[in-house]
Amino acid sequence: MIRFLINQESVEIEDVRADLTLLQFIREYRHKTGTKEGCAAGDCGACTVVLAEPNADFSSLNYRTVNSCITLMSAVHAKQLIFVEHLSNGTALHPVQQALVDHHGSQCGFCTPGFIMSMFALYHTNSSPNRDDVLHALSGNLCRCTGYRPIIDATLAVCEQQADDGFTRNTSSTLSILKAIVTRDSAGGDYVGTRNLIMPRNRESLAKAIKDNPAAMLVSGSTDLSLTFTQQLKSIDTLISLSHMDELKVCTTTSHSLIIGAANPIKDITPALLKHFPQLAELITRFASLPIRNQATLGGNVANASPIGDMPPALIALNAAILVDNGIQKRSIPVSEFFVGYRETALKSDEWIAAIEIPFLNTNQRLAAYKISKRFEDDISAVCAVFNITINHGIIEQVDAGFGGVAATPAGCNALHDALVGKNFSSKACVDLGKTVLMNAFTPIDDVRATAEYRKTVLANLWHRFWLENQSDTTITTRVVNHA
Ligand SMILES: Cc1cc2nc3c(=O)[nH]c(=O)nc-3n(C[C@H](O)[C@H](O)[C@H](O)COP(=O)(O)OP(=O)(O)OC[C@H]3O[C@@H](n4cnc5c(N)ncnc54)[C@H](O)[C@@H]3O)c2cc1C
Ligand code: FES
Ligand code: FES
Repeated sequence: MIRFLINQESVEIEDVRADLTLLQFIREYRHKTGTKEGCAAGDCGACTVVLAEPNADFSSLNYRTVNSCITLMSAVHAKQLIFVEHLSNGTALHPVQQALVDHHGSQCGFCTPGFIMSMFALYHTNSSPNRDDVLHALSGNLCRCTGYRPIIDATLAVCEQQADDGFTRNTSSTLSILKAIVTRDSAGGDYVGTRNLIMPRNRESLAKAIKDNPAAMLVSGSTDLSLTFTQQLKSIDTLISLSHMDELKVCTTTSHSLIIGAANPIKDITPALLKHFPQLAELITRFASLPIRNQATLGGNVANASPIGDMPPALIALNAAILVDNGIQKRSIPVSEFFVGYRETALKSDEWIAAIEIPFLNTNQRLAAYKISKRFEDDISAVCAVFNITINHGIIEQVDAGFGGVAATPAGCNALHDALVGKNFSSKACVDLGKTVLMNAFTPIDDVRATAEYRKTVLANLWHRFWLENQSDTTITTRVVNHA
């Protein structure tokens, strides 16, 4: 059974198509058409809705935007689903709606419900946002006719009001209904979900679900998998969702490493990642958009094995280990051995990724991560480069680097290590040699994002940039906004 709230209405779903999207549910089952479909791919934000979920001690609600076009029904269990029809109170507009009217923030109106929901989530999470916070909150929403300035102005103005709304006033009743669902789940055993949208709650039940349903696929945030349904128009009978596996959402440290649970959303792991690896800010803060980061997981990013995924190059450069499990035995696979072919991994059919372990840096290591894409946020990399260089008394001892967008898999580059070890890092010869190696190390393809020649040139230039940024007498400032 999937149990959740639609605004203040308790809903129970006993059976549902595994690949039904939340947007299809809202428009076709609930006949509410305010939420729009633009791209059906997570790119435009017309379908944005809000999921409110209780914090750990059920004292408050976290309001998160998601792209309903690529969100599956497993994501709503034990949450409150809020869409645009719920905001106004009779004829009185919600303050975010009124602000958009007052600031002339809507013309054709197609994007407006999505913007309204992103503004609404920010209204409930930040009472004094600055302009960057607003850009971040609206990073998943595209408007093709009004222009962004009035929408940004409206958002800044309304968030400053700090006024209660109907949702704030209903917080305690919402929390108690959601708490009752969670309590019932705990008493109810190993699974929630439905017959073909199975949501195991622990390791043993996940192993059993995989064994009993050999044709089923695993799903976490569904930000990659759903495109198979919405873009390729394929369907699937059974999905096993990892969203309710608390043990896959840990975020812990050992004396030498950070361990990140595979099913933890990128948004939630960002503070820990940036605390220990602040140099990854460019990758993390520019990973997709806020609604995607609210759903997408590190485990999904790694398991998807896309050659243009952003985190695999970082994990390769950091010598991370992929911790996998099958319910009986756990094993650790070095990330350098995990990607075995185009979108193929070393995972066996009964295994899942439980966590990713990233060793801490020592003081001699210099790390930097670069993402080159057309949009600042909500765009896949044309090229991604992460350099992790160990330098002792000016001499390079070790070169660990990871690259995306230049090969069939996320890739390291032994040739760069072999060429640079023993070289004086500050020498002009070092930068030139690195550029020559990287111009010739890969045979990337031409595609809509970039030509092969562009990719090779950018890779070499990124090494040049890393070298410049790490000379002690050079200061280069780039735009990175830290939204941890
Ligand atoms: C608009 C948009 C923008 C995007 N931008 C970026 C970007 O900037 N950078 C980037 O890297 N990616 C981007 N992506 C891709 C995607 O968001 C990420 O790859 C994300 O991390 C996938 O995680 P998920 O939990 O949603 O995976 P899902 O879609 O749930 O799963 C993806 C695959 O991994 C498998 N899987 C999931 N979890 C596990 C597990 N624990 N063990 C074993 N298998 C598992 C699933 O079976 C599936 O095959 C974007 C996607 C969209 C739609
Ligand atoms: S319809 Fe475009 S993001 Fe969902
Ligand atoms: S108002 Fe027309 S797309 Fe935004």
